[in-house]
Amino acid sequence: MQVPPAHIKNIEVDWLGRDQVEIEARWESQTSSPRLQAMELRMAVICSEVRQALQVWIQDCLRAGQVLEGPEGRGHAEMFVREVSLKLRDQFTPPFAETEMCHCRVVTTAQVDRAVVSGCHSPREVSRATTASTSCGTCRPDVEAWIRFRCEAR
Ligand code: FES
Repeated sequence: MQVPPAHIKNIEVDWLGRDQVEIEARWESQTSSPRLQAMELRMAVICSEVRQALQVWIQDCLRAGQVLEGPEGRGHAEMFVREVSLKLRDQFTPPFAETEMCHCRVVTTAQVDRAVVSGCHSPREVSRATTASTSCGTCRPDVEAWIRFRCEAR
C-alpha cells in the first residue's frame, strides 16, 4: 500500500528557564482539507502540569483531525498550550515587537512576559514584579496588551 505524502510542520516553544518543547505535526495532504494525523513531542523539558495539559489538547486535536484553539485559562500550562496552538496555526503574533518594553525602568519585553506567565495578570502586579510602568506610564498600554495577549484564549 502506498503511503500518502504528508505535510509536516515543526515548532518550538521555549520559555527560558521554565518549559521547552519541540513538536512535529503531520497532516495527510491528498485531500483539499488535510487531516491532522500525528503530533509528536520531539523534545520536552516541561513540568507535569504543562505535560498533562499538552497531552489532553493533543488527543483532542487528533480526534478532531485539526489543530484546535488552546484551552482557556490563566494558568501557565494553558498559556503554554495556547502558544503551541497559535504557532502551529501561524497565528502567534505578539503585540509588541521591541526587546525593551519600559524605557524608563529598562525592563525588557521578556521580563514582562515572564512575569505574566508566572502569574502577574494585572498591570499593577506586573509593575510590582518588574518595575515596568512605574515612571512616565507610556509603556502601560503595551503592558496591558501583553497581559491580554497571554491571558485571552484564541
Ligand atoms: S516607559 Fe515605562 S514608565 Fe516610562
